[in-house]
Amino acid sequence: MSNVKTIGILTSGGDAPGMNAAIRAVTMVGLSLGLKVIGIEQGYRGILEERFVELSAERVATLFREGGTILHSSRCLEFHEVAVRDRARKILRAKGIDGLVVIGGNGSLAGALALCNPEEAGAWAPAVIGIPASIDNDIGLTGMCIGVDTAINTIVEACDKISDTASAHDRNFIVEVMGRDSGYLAMTAGVASGADLVLFPESGRTKDDVVEVTTAAVVRKRRGESMAGSTLIIKAEGVGISPDELKKRLHVRLIEELGEKEAATVETRITVLGHVVRGGRPSAFDRLLGSRLGNVAVRALAAGETSKMIAWMAPVQMSEKLGIRSAFDHCCWLADLQATLDETEKLVQGDSIVVQWRAAMLNGLEEVHGKEKTL
Ligand code: F6P
Repeated sequence: MSNVKTIGILTSGGDAPGMNAAIRAVTMVGLSLGLKVIGIEQGYRGILEERFVELSAERVATLFREGGTILHSSRCLEFHEVAVRDRARKILRAKGIDGLVVIGGNGSLAGALALCNPEEAGAWAPAVIGIPASIDNDIGLTGMCIGVDTAINTIVEACDKISDTASAHDRNFIVEVMGRDSGYLAMTAGVASGADLVLFPESGRTKDDVVEVTTAAVVRKRRGESMAGSTLIIKAEGVGISPDELKKRLHVRLIEELGEKEAATVETRITVLGHVVRGGRPSAFDRLLGSRLGNVAVRALAAGETSKMIAWMAPVQMSEKLGIRSAFDHCCWLADLQATLDETEKLVQGDSIVVQWRAAMLNGLEEVHGKEKTL
């Protein structure tokens, strides 16, 4: 058991639906274990500015329904500096916060690891447990991050609506969705909404390849039974061509493929979903995920753990890297934070087996759509 008596909780980086459910669970479980729970506003910046607010069961009771984060969030670049982290440790210690739950993505978990690193901290460091939250699903060693499910549902709902109007007018739609380094949202929403083409950075396509594959998808639709038809193309933000440029270049290629007269009848529209994808009420799954990760995070702190991230059902092939399975939730693992960040780096660089599976699955589907190959 640990000596942790007061825990702090903060949300950092891009917000994600379900963060509030995690805040609620951390508070409720912490209080039930006899711990004091302090909310820290504005992520790591809130430590430096001493924006602390004690959390009660009443304050968090109905939080699970709300999107965003009641604690607010920020991207605190100063936290990259050791001197700034030293100041943060000093403030936390003075406030009596000896355990910290950090809910966030890659950068936030890197901050968490540095904060509790004994070599850097010297005599005293808080115990720190991370919870993965990023709609991009770009954190290593966890099957899911908080916010992903809600974001996929938002995209699918938008694509369903777009498909109605697209088919009414036989138009092509390029729908851009969030995902700076990861095409996970585009890939999964593409499957769930029956997109004709998904453009994702992990495929490794050049700009020219993207234009070609898009042209092929549109021509295929035009040459199909209806001789017209709408084409739904979902593009991840991280694909290195803007929707406007893609639209222009597609038009040029369609003139070459279909001739000027027919190409003039093909209309392409763009919808950039942007931050719409990150907002909204969390899905039931994100409420559960936030709650279950929050529960395990507090119990890990109470058991004396530090420098871990609570992972959710990572692929079995990774089980040797996952560390301890939680005794409180058989779907959760206490993954080492450093191992998590190493795997995250591989995910972003495209070297992770997970990314290779994702890309292979989607490339396979596209080939089937193109009738070039069967699975
Ligand atoms: O949280 C991840 C993410 O939504 C990325 O997909 C996106 O590129 C980025 O955050 C946008 O961040 P910001 O809201 O700070 O512009």
